[in-house]
Amino acid sequence: MAKSTGDIKLVKKKRLVTAALPYINNIPHLGHIVGSHLPADIFARYSRTAGYDTIFVGGTDENGSTSEIAASKIGVDLQTFSDKLHKEHAKIYKWFGISYDTFSRTSKPIHHKTVRDFFKQMKKNGFIKEGTMKVFYSPKEDRFLPDRYIIGNCPKCGYENANGDQCEKCTSVLDPAQLENPRSSISGGEVEIRNSKHLFIRLDKLSPKLEKWIKTQSQWRKQVINLAKGWIKEGLRPRAITRDLKHGVPVPLAGYKDKVFYVWFDAPIGYVSATKEARKDWKDIWKGDTEIHNFLGKDNIPFHTIFWPAMLLGQQEFNLPTNVIGLQYLNYEGGKFSKSKQRGVFCERLLESKLDPDIWRAYLTQIIPETSDSEFKWNEFQERINSDLIGNYGNFINRTLSFVSSKLGGNLQIQEENTLTKRDKKFRKDVRKRVESITANIEAGEIRKGFADILALSTEGNKYLTETAPWKLLKTNPKKANDVLANCTGLVKTLAIVSSPYLPFSTKKIWEQLNMPGKCDTPGKWDQAYEISLPKTHTINKPEKLFSPIEDKEIKKLKEETSKPTNLSELFNK
Ligand code: MF3
Ligand code: ZN
Repeated sequence: MAKSTGDIKLVKKKRLVTAALPYINNIPHLGHIVGSHLPADIFARYSRTAGYDTIFVGGTDENGSTSEIAASKIGVDLQTFSDKLHKEHAKIYKWFGISYDTFSRTSKPIHHKTVRDFFKQMKKNGFIKEGTMKVFYSPKEDRFLPDRYIIGNCPKCGYENANGDQCEKCTSVLDPAQLENPRSSISGGEVEIRNSKHLFIRLDKLSPKLEKWIKTQSQWRKQVINLAKGWIKEGLRPRAITRDLKHGVPVPLAGYKDKVFYVWFDAPIGYVSATKEARKDWKDIWKGDTEIHNFLGKDNIPFHTIFWPAMLLGQQEFNLPTNVIGLQYLNYEGGKFSKSKQRGVFCERLLESKLDPDIWRAYLTQIIPETSDSEFKWNEFQERINSDLIGNYGNFINRTLSFVSSKLGGNLQIQEENTLTKRDKKFRKDVRKRVESITANIEAGEIRKGFADILALSTEGNKYLTETAPWKLLKTNPKKANDVLANCTGLVKTLAIVSSPYLPFSTKKIWEQLNMPGKCDTPGKWDQAYEISLPKTHTINKPEKLFSPIEDKEIKKLKEETSKPTNLSELFNK
């Protein structure tokens, strides 16, 4: 990270932040939000505020079998289906405050062109070859059944509904012919194996380079590095990058008329296409001195540690990721999220509820499955919001600003350095240390720990307030009461800055109540969080409570309302 040295301010690097592009076979639930969009957003917001030239991109992954199956199930054409679902996704992420610079679509012509160019480059470099693949064919449906058209038992873990290309349970990447007891996922009917001509990426040839690169990735989480090393150890074989499907990115080669690229070949290139849309200097971003941070869920880890980096190594022009932040799964009340069983919190319902999105962000941040699977629990949600966000964080801010307003008429004078007591100095030092820790944690992609630090910071504030008791000082030593409250107000300012990535809506309100100029999250503002700094004399605005506690009956109602997912066909009847 760049530091200011004297009056020369070093310009911080470009930073590209990506969240995995969601499939659009469904409307997202909370598991999808915590599994990539939210942590990526917090990281991107932090990066902007910390002064990095930040580009945050995402989009919908619209090609391949997943969308095809979903569209045909409700009997609409893929275009109509995708247009609608893309809008639903975008609306939800916007509501949550996910600050994408571009939220694109892999159905766009710009993406198709980017994929073609990428492929041609890899081919020119000698990392693509032709071969045959054993694929499933359904005589009854008279068609090939790639990827999600086929299910069977996973040869690795035995899971019964493994897809043709991957087992979602153990995340193993599969070849369809490896599935045991294969059957059509549409009709459940019998299938036969046929040979089909396809294009392959030479993972075998790329493996040594890839292995070398993986070994240098010391910043990856243990779970991520272990998985990646395991796959390398098993040995990488060429993998098909085309499929016998109608919809997707056409293959720019003779003899591939009825085929398209494999969805996991085209989708990650979406990061490049979305950057193109976001910025004129996209080439600089992908080829120059840029950090790239990928956020993604558990089943996406093999693709972001092996497959996509191998594609990049084969293409030879674009940067490999700086960090791959692979997350685990979120469960719901002791089991899986399930649309059919109405188990979960379905996002479209949240938009109808009156709750502040920051309430959700605050709880979700605390259950980001960073090191192991985590769990959404309603009683924990209520407890965390009421005690951490309101009882600790909100309370410190509101207590401080209310005192200043009611007892000092809103007017403060910053404490002179030479009057600082030991306690005041300790307070300021603790604040600085804590902000350093927040910065380090977010930089490392430890988003959850960063938030724990923020709560610890408001705990420090509450302690300082209680110990110095300005309400008593007001009568005995009004100057000291001012000093303490000025320090606390300084901490409120720090809190607004450092929590702006987590709570973008509430921190805006805090900033207004503080009556600070500009915004708490303008580029470079982060540097002001380390020290207690206010103008020499300052007047705050009228404070107001930021959140109201969540009552038991509200939880009950929310649980009922948010567990009923939209039936996709209803969406098209409106
Ligand atoms: N669509 C995939 C999923 O939802 C993720 C694709 S991520 C990308 O699991 F890298 F391909 F973009
Ligand atoms: Zn498995």
